[in-house]
Amino acid sequence: MKLVKLIANLGYGSRKDVTQLFRAGRITDADGEVLYADDVVPYESIRVDDEPLDPPPGLTLMMNKPLGVTCSRKDPGRVVYDLLPPRYNVRSPALSSVGRLDRDTSGLLLFTDDGALLHRIISPKVQVTKVYEATLAQDLRGDEGELFASGSLLLESETEPLAPAVLEVLGPRHARLSVTEGRYHQVRRMFAATGNHVETLQRISIGALALGGLPLGEWRTLDAAEVAEIFAS
Ligand code: URA
Repeated sequence: MKLVKLIANLGYGSRKDVTQLFRAGRITDADGEVLYADDVVPYESIRVDDEPLDPPPGLTLMMNKPLGVTCSRKDPGRVVYDLLPPRYNVRSPALSSVGRLDRDTSGLLLFTDDGALLHRIISPKVQVTKVYEATLAQDLRGDEGELFASGSLLLESETEPLAPAVLEVLGPRHARLSVTEGRYHQVRRMFAATGNHVETLQRISIGALALGGLPLGEWRTLDAAEVAEIFAS
């Protein structure tokens, strides 16, 4: 791909803007030699204003989503995309969140510009396990684990029962729930079906990829081994 197009696709501006950057000598190699639009150089050696280029397409990252931000592009309030560098929101191919977390759910949220990867993660056929920790308004009854594991729990206004899910009790009002589906408000509706109410909800892992110590509101890119962890159980 021509350098102008490659750099424009990374969100550095229109092709016209990037042509201007070349003309102004702001695009160089690692030794500071000015590059021209037709040059063929390794990706890693390209600099814009002395800074290495953003990661190439094939970008996947994880965020520790805070409360109060929406997984949407056009919500009038704060959206998860506002937490990424502005350039990441005008890349082509576009970087999208992998599924969604509710505004009032925190925790592990993935983003990728790889459409095939995105579909593989959310595909019901692949059954990637998502683990959530919930605090509840009322004490657990004691029969929730059995009900969630049964594969016969039908959520309100749905016709297909939920796939079996695993409940781990962490305290009287504190539980960890592992699910393989991604239905609308699934975890909240599962506890609602037992007469309870989720007060706080956090996603802590997707497959074998855990949130770890990533601070709330922060994000980092994933390498290939970490992407592979999503599909390891
Ligand atoms: N289940 C929910 O209820 N909310 C989320 O954000 C994710 C899973």
